[in-house]
Amino acid sequence: MRLPIWRLALGVAFAGSIVGYLFWSYGYAPLTAELLEHLPKPAVHEAAPQPNNVSAKSYSWSTVTAFPLIDSRLIENATRDELCRHFPHDKLRDIQPVLKTGHGVIDRARHSLNSTSACLSNIIIFSDLAHETGLDGIPVIDILADIPKALLEKTEQTLPYRELVAMQANGTLSTEKMSNLEGWRTDKFKFLPEVSRAWQLSPNKRWYVFYEGDTYIVWDTVFRLLDHFDPDIPHYFGSPSPGREGAWFANGGPGYILSRGAVRALVKTDWDSRTGEWLGPSLTVKYFDDILGMCCGDDVLGWVLAKSGILLKGLWPMFNPHNLHGVPFSDLYWCQPVLSLHKSTETDSVDLWRWEWNNRNPSSPATYRDIATTFFDFANMTRREDWDNGEWDAYRPAPENAGRSDESVSDCSRACENAEGCFQWTYHLRQCYFVRSFRYGRSKQPVDEEDRPDREWTFEEQRFTAGWDVEKIVNWMDARPCDNVDWVKPSLERIF
Ligand SMILES: *[C@@H]1O[C@H](CO)[C@@H](O)[C@H](O)[C@H]1NC(C)=O
Ligand SMILES: *[C@@H]1O[C@H](CO)[C@@H](O)[C@H](O)[C@H]1NC(C)=O
Ligand SMILES: *[C@@H]1O[C@H](CO)[C@@H](O)[C@H](O)[C@H]1NC(C)=O
Ligand SMILES: *[C@@H]1O[C@H](CO)[C@@H](O)[C@H](O)[C@H]1NC(C)=O
Ligand SMILES: *[C@@H]1O[C@H](CO)[C@@H](O)[C@H](O)[C@H]1NC(C)=O
Repeated sequence: MRLPIWRLALGVAFAGSIVGYLFWSYGYAPLTAELLEHLPKPAVHEAAPQPNNVSAKSYSWSTVTAFPLIDSRLIENATRDELCRHFPHDKLRDIQPVLKTGHGVIDRARHSLNSTSACLSNIIIFSDLAHETGLDGIPVIDILADIPKALLEKTEQTLPYRELVAMQANGTLSTEKMSNLEGWRTDKFKFLPEVSRAWQLSPNKRWYVFYEGDTYIVWDTVFRLLDHFDPDIPHYFGSPSPGREGAWFANGGPGYILSRGAVRALVKTDWDSRTGEWLGPSLTVKYFDDILGMCCGDDVLGWVLAKSGILLKGLWPMFNPHNLHGVPFSDLYWCQPVLSLHKSTETDSVDLWRWEWNNRNPSSPATYRDIATTFFDFANMTRREDWDNGEWDAYRPAPENAGRSDESVSDCSRACENAEGCFQWTYHLRQCYFVRSFRYGRSKQPVDEEDRPDREWTFEEQRFTAGWDVEKIVNWMDARPCDNVDWVKPSLERIF
């Protein structure tokens, strides 16, 4: 039997990774029976990288859902827990979800547990304050408590956190004070210790998926994606942002995924190599002063990973900084799978989660097209008042196309219809804005113009009116049926 060369190469690499793994595990974490169970399985299961056309921008994968097919009548009135019985729990044997929250935004985590995080029986929740009773019975862990006290106390930057903990201890913590505690100032300290503690609590998972209370994760897409990568190679996936010293980091909002190989590289000095004792988050200690000098934790993490030789593999737009109502549908967001969305509201999360159960396609992941055509119904959009769909991709028509567009709502609508590339419009303060993508947008109350106090606007003029060129949108969508799913290859050029 002749093996293709890429298979041979893979076999060698794989054997190497087992040896490396055994060697590696020996020094740092005791090889308990539980750990052994997580040893890499035979290469076939590793879902070898496919012999794809290397110059193509996408993988030509055909994927199958890990979710069982269920009768839609069973879904209609099912409770969260009933639906969760159909979740492919065996996938969580290899994947560790890690949700980051804060005391001031704990409600987001609550909502997450009602939607995207609902069925994750092994979820780990990190925050800036421990909650004895937990959320839904899941413990909430104060991740800053892993940082040595002496470090925390040497800087004013951790004052909000220290006060929070002190108030909980002396019983003066009230809801009212929560919002003043500047949770965001504390947030950047969580990123490095999170990785350490995730491994300490749940060692040797193939993948660690880090996200936030307002991140919506499409787990079906995560499962399909990760089947194609070797977890013992250091992988760091997310939506790229430029960071310190030329390093790219994954924007924390849409979440990021680290492979076992990447996490190992970060936590390998967390254990005493002689006794096997856990010493705590060593990189947090090492880079504490750098954290103080940087604005954001996602930047810190990307920079520290880069220093370890692990560079971000950018998977935008699968990891998406937009929220559901803000996705600007266009060729940039169309045939690609949706893996995550940021800034998900409670209703959006619950609605999208239900939509997923009703619309899961066994042979194809949820794409942006699916969301545009079956979650939203752009074919039936009608004009909306007190609505703004022009907060992204909007532009003022060029003088030669403008015509009478500023005269009235109807003139604006007509001008958009006549302008090539205008899919929708918003009219506000007697100005017409065209939009080059189509998006749902959001309701918006009338507002006055701030920089022109000389001009008095009537209430009607201050209102926002938005409309869609449904015919153009339908033609555009029909011309792009997405017969092939665009599983984008990692890139740091294709960015948000
Ligand atoms: C490989 O992909 C490139 C870019 O998409 C394409 O132009 C080329 O025809 C492909 N080659 C093969 C052999 O499929
Ligand atoms: C779901 O509940 C509604 C309202 O109670 C009911 O009319 C409908 O028949 C139920 N659907 C199924 C499939 O049981
Ligand atoms: C979760 O959803 C249920 C029913 O849909 C609702 O009663 C409950 O209040 C929700 N919990 C949270 C924390 O939003
Ligand atoms: C409780 O702790 C906070 C934060 O340190 C402090 O400001 C407050 O005075 C304390 N209250 C009491 C009653 O001890
Ligand atoms: C949406 O539009 C399609 C095609 O124009 C039409 O068949 C359908 O009835 C519409 N649905 C609603 C809810 O209006």
